[in-house]
Amino acid sequence: MARHLITSAIPYINGIKHLGNLVGSQLPADLYARYQRGRGNEVLFLCATDEHGTPAELAAKKAGKPVAEYCAEMHAVQAEIARGFRLSFDHFGRSSSPQNHELTQHFAGKLAENGLIREVSESQIYSKTDGRFLPDRYIEGICPNCGYDKARGDQCENCTKQLDPTDLIEPRSAISGSTDLEVRETKHLYLMQAGMRGQLNDWIDSQEDWPLLTTSIARKWLNDGDGLQDRGITRDLDWGIPVRRGKEPWPGMEGKVFYVWFDAPIEYIACAGEWAEATGQDDAAWQRWWRTDKGADDVRYTQFMGKDNVPFHTLSFPATILGSGEPWKLVDYIKSFNYLNYDGGQFSTSQGRGVFMDQALDILPPDYWRWWLLSHAPESSDSEFTWKNFQTSVNKDLADVLGNFVSRVTKFCRSKFGEAVPEAGTFGPEEHALIDSLTIRLRNYETHMEAMEVRKSAAELRGIWVAGNEYLQSVAPWTTFKTDPDKAAAQIRLALNLVRFYAVLSAPFVPDAASDMLAAMQTVDDSWPDDVPAALSVLEPGHIFTVPEVAFAKISDEQREDWQARFSGVRT
Ligand code: 2FM
Ligand code: ZN
Repeated sequence: MARHLITSAIPYINGIKHLGNLVGSQLPADLYARYQRGRGNEVLFLCATDEHGTPAELAAKKAGKPVAEYCAEMHAVQAEIARGFRLSFDHFGRSSSPQNHELTQHFAGKLAENGLIREVSESQIYSKTDGRFLPDRYIEGICPNCGYDKARGDQCENCTKQLDPTDLIEPRSAISGSTDLEVRETKHLYLMQAGMRGQLNDWIDSQEDWPLLTTSIARKWLNDGDGLQDRGITRDLDWGIPVRRGKEPWPGMEGKVFYVWFDAPIEYIACAGEWAEATGQDDAAWQRWWRTDKGADDVRYTQFMGKDNVPFHTLSFPATILGSGEPWKLVDYIKSFNYLNYDGGQFSTSQGRGVFMDQALDILPPDYWRWWLLSHAPESSDSEFTWKNFQTSVNKDLADVLGNFVSRVTKFCRSKFGEAVPEAGTFGPEEHALIDSLTIRLRNYETHMEAMEVRKSAAELRGIWVAGNEYLQSVAPWTTFKTDPDKAAAQIRLALNLVRFYAVLSAPFVPDAASDMLAAMQTVDDSWPDDVPAALSVLEPGHIFTVPEVAFAKISDEQREDWQARFSGVRT
């Protein structure tokens, strides 16, 4: 039995994610986790909320709540939505957990011990009214280039010119609007990752099978002069993990916290600790996934993320791990995704554009979304969600192909043979041909799933569904029944077994439909069909089944138009 550690990029706490976020990390990670479990492997699948940083603080402020309370509430909201999409995390943790505090401080301490941290003094804008330093993008003012009056300290949104906060005319705090700003000296810790270029380069070079999207982004930043500069890992904020050197205070760093991008990936490890605690296990239980000196050397670790996250996972986090000098598990495979666009533009959290996860579940069950999103995953390029395409794909693939197969077979059997697998007849050339072709297709499906080729896997699965429909269409048991009822019985016996077979193969994509199909077939046998002929005779003659409810309702033109109009605007 292989052991798979699987993590999805951890979503920011401030607000509900859109479908583009979902398909870029959590959903394909879930597909892979479910597949590996289906194959009988041992899986630890982790995700969490990313709770620190200025955006979290500001979102809490906007909601009028203390930030800890806001994060606790939003964590519960995101966890509930994740359950709604059937994301099968073994644990959905929080980057603000005590485990992450301890580990983040531990890593900082080790890096310092190994001479990889230096202190840097810098001048930064301080707002006396807000009582805090302001990050560049929380300073607003008039653009010196175009006169736009809401230019940010890092960039003018109107003319796109890159700015320094000190370039702005009449600068003010974006938090309070206060103009009582001054430049102050402040001290920060820098991770000396520039010196690790060679080590990181070798590590990335040794990853022959990584997707091109991942390695090309990693190489671009590695080879670009600016890409691997030493990086500030502390911030002047109240909310975050206090800067400590292991368990000791860090002189001169009082009142400062670690930068959110320093502690977020460490949460991948901490989350395993949270999982062990939540399930009443000891430290050894999570360390066997993460420490190569404690049993993790046979673990295969796969990360899923959107392309914007690749530099942090190929350079910064590995620099933290390698720099610690401790035997932590490094990632084995990074699966990254391009962007999903929405109806001719971009999904945007800040602009409230597109369909958000809660809204999606309000209008349709999770399987509909899972199927469309995964079968259109933005792998080799960006892809686009349109309501028309969504309607077509759901109606054709799920309703006409999979749903229709299940319903035709079970209803026909009920009307001619009753609600039990018929006994008469033997398989002829058509049945053997179908079994042979399904065997080939299944092996292709496994190959694509192992390689995390999401779209190809979906296409092969659809092909497997179609093969069953074509078989049914060509042998036409409803016609055969009139002249040779025994032959029709054998055809239906095979088709009923195909329903169970489909349930097992389809579960990673459409878990609810899969469990409904197994329930209708009155079986709990969801073992992977290593041997296809054997798998297609699991339901023996006489085995009782029931006709399931309609698995997939079609999306009408009226619904499509209604949703398109409803989601054309901006979510406030
Ligand atoms: O881009 C994002 O949504 C980040 N919150 C991802 C963090 S992933 C990791 F570093 F933990
Ligand atoms: Zn401008």
